[in-house]
Amino acid sequence: MENKKILLGVSGGIAAYKACELASLLVKEKAQIYTILTQSATQFITPLSFKTITYNPVYINQFDYELVEPLHIELCQKADLLILAPATANLIAKIANGICDDLLTTIACAYKGPVLLAPAMNTNMWENPITQENIKKLQEKLNYQIVLPASGELACRTVGIGKLAPIEEIAQKAKSLISGQNPETPDCKLKNGKLNDIKVLITAGGTREPIDPVRFIGNRSSGKMGLALADEAYERGANTILITTNAPNTERPYKVIVVETAHQLQEAVENYFDTSQILIMSAAVSDFKPIQFFNSKIKKTTTDSDWHLALTRSPDILETLGRLKKDGQVLIGFAAESENLLKNARKKLENKKLDLIIANEVRPEIGFASDYNEVYLISRDRLQEPKLLPKTTKTEISKQIWGFIEEKFLNLKQN
Ligand code: CTP
Repeated sequence: MENKKILLGVSGGIAAYKACELASLLVKEKAQIYTILTQSATQFITPLSFKTITYNPVYINQFDYELVEPLHIELCQKADLLILAPATANLIAKIANGICDDLLTTIACAYKGPVLLAPAMNTNMWENPITQENIKKLQEKLNYQIVLPASGELACRTVGIGKLAPIEEIAQKAKSLISGQNPETPDCKLKNGKLNDIKVLITAGGTREPIDPVRFIGNRSSGKMGLALADEAYERGANTILITTNAPNTERPYKVIVVETAHQLQEAVENYFDTSQILIMSAAVSDFKPIQFFNSKIKKTTTDSDWHLALTRSPDILETLGRLKKDGQVLIGFAAESENLLKNARKKLENKKLDLIIANEVRPEIGFASDYNEVYLISRDRLQEPKLLPKTTKTEISKQIWGFIEEKFLNLKQN
């Protein structure tokens, strides 16, 4: 990055302070950083912080400078890259709609070079369809590179997606863009991930077995645990595939396959199982499905007081794969139990020939549909000493689960 000129646009969110760390990281890589703050960014962080870190001027007002060229043109001309981090929902909306009402938005409109955008905001704002549409527009129409936000505990004390992506990831992508590489190619992926190049397959959500065009047999699984595990696997550098019944609200930087029934889930898993090194089955798979699918909506008649639906067993996907598993493959299952948690989980570990089972009690405040979980990890060498991961967010539980998997099965040291 030696002598490369980067415009760092910072908008007004709590993650603005992290832009200082980003500037510092890029300065260490010998880049020349010129910071542009929006007025609201100055509520969170001072120009002096950036001036001190970058040894360059910091710009806020469009008309404060006596230059021959207008300031935004002058800055655009000398830049190799524009980074917008953190980018608030407001900044994204303005840029996506061509609004130029301050220095930063005017620069974004005038700049012709590569742009890296790292959003950070409250989950609801990120998931708002308008924000999602704006992101898509910037990606597709202007070829902006987006570093998707991470999930976790947010400053507004909620848990969800919206945290600024790790600074190292933003810096890494900036480097790739400046050197002309496509940051999405695996070569340019974060290289300090412990799961680099490991192929991970994760299933999530509850299957739905249709009865007629209106009704189905389903369960309460929301798919949040599997999604958090897939996000974390990706963060750690894994080549990640998620097969889920619940499409994530926001785009993911890895492959996501959406299915509905146990049969479709089985087909999708079998397509990728052979080439996967680690499979985590967190999906709640329906054990039964209706023998018959009714093409038209079933009508009740005035004479019926009871109505019976005939069901047939669905295949046990994990049990089948346990028999097909090759040396070196790691098979991980979940056990959700309302009683005899550890005993039942151990039985499933044995019957399905698993390497690890993640057991959680069915309780209202954890597990199904909740953002929290509490689990026991039971591996073959710890049958009688399961490791308890006490109640915390699913994002945090995922980190701990991956830490355990890395240590146990990949011979890698935990952080
Ligand atoms: N599973 C599967 N295919 C099924 C049922 C379950 O692959 N038809 C997997 C789940 O994804 C999970 C593990 O097996 O990883 C245990 O699932 P669970 O629903 O807890 O138990 P079951 O095996 O269905 O047994 P039971 O319903 O009797 O508790």
